Amino acid sequence: MGVLAAGLAHEVKNPLSTMSVNLQLMEEDYGEAKGPLEERTLRRVRLLLREVKRLDGIVNDFLALARGYEISPTSVDLELLLTEVVALVEAQNERHGIRTRSSLEPEARYVVADPKFLRVALMNLVVNAQQAMGEEGGELLVESRRRGGDVEVRVTDTGPGIERERLEKIWQPFFSTKEGGTGLGLPTTRRIVEEMGGDIEVWSDRGRGTRFTVTLPALPKQLPADASDPTTPQDDPA
Ligand SMILES: Nc1ncnc2c1ncn2[C@@H]1O[C@H](COP(=O)(O)OP(=O)(O)OP(=O)(O)O)[C@@H](O)[C@H]1O
Ligand SMILES: [Mg+2]
Repeated sequence: MGVLAAGLAHEVKNPLSTMSVNLQLMEEDYGEAKGPLEERTLRRVRLLLREVKRLDGIVNDFLALARGYEISPTSVDLELLLTEVVALVEAQNERHGIRTRSSLEPEARYVVADPKFLRVALMNLVVNAQQAMGEEGGELLVESRRRGGDVEVRVTDTGPGIERERLEKIWQPFFSTKEGGTGLGLPTTRRIVEEMGGDIEVWSDRGRGTRFTVTLPALPKQLPADASDPTTPQDDPA
């Protein structure tokens, strides 16, 4: 199924690229729109361009998920990474009346992971939590703690929770209850975490909230202080 799906996705990318190029040419042609008719056409062309881009993004994410990720495990400063991830959503959270808290154990500072993919995996969880609480507000709690040879990262929200019957489905590609949601976030997160030798679990209580727990291997030995930040890769994506 994976091979079939990846093949199909590949076939879809070529016509999408043709559509994109031609829509861009049309946008240029209508650039100096004269009159209401041309303005309307220009608006529609731009709408189509956005949709084509969105489709291309979905196909790319899906292809990556179907193929698997090229994980290069290294020591990661989880504290730094979580602080960055939280900072990224904090401003928006504030506007939505969502309180953001984090509690990071010093003993849980270093894990063995691929920082680029770990960031994607954790961002998906934090964004889901944010979206779950929506306009209602609530609290987002991000925690890290040491559990023997492992480190646990917990992302907890006080949103509406997930119905019991849905708890299995959330891991399926394209399962989404959101308008405009793709449903690739959680399966991507799960695959990334598992490829890094970790695992992920969900706990949810309808009406009370949801917690995702990611378990990753801790770095066996603490690094010396002067080598304490080997973790952010040179090509760290924004
Ligand atoms: N923290 C949460 N609280 C409540 N429901 C959640 C939470 N996280 C995920 N879900 C449910 O799981 C579904 C799948 O999540 P997933 O991240 O895979 O896709 P999505 O968020 O809908 O879309 P995408 O992440 O692709 O933009 C969501 O649509 C939602 O119904
Ligand atoms: Mg999501």
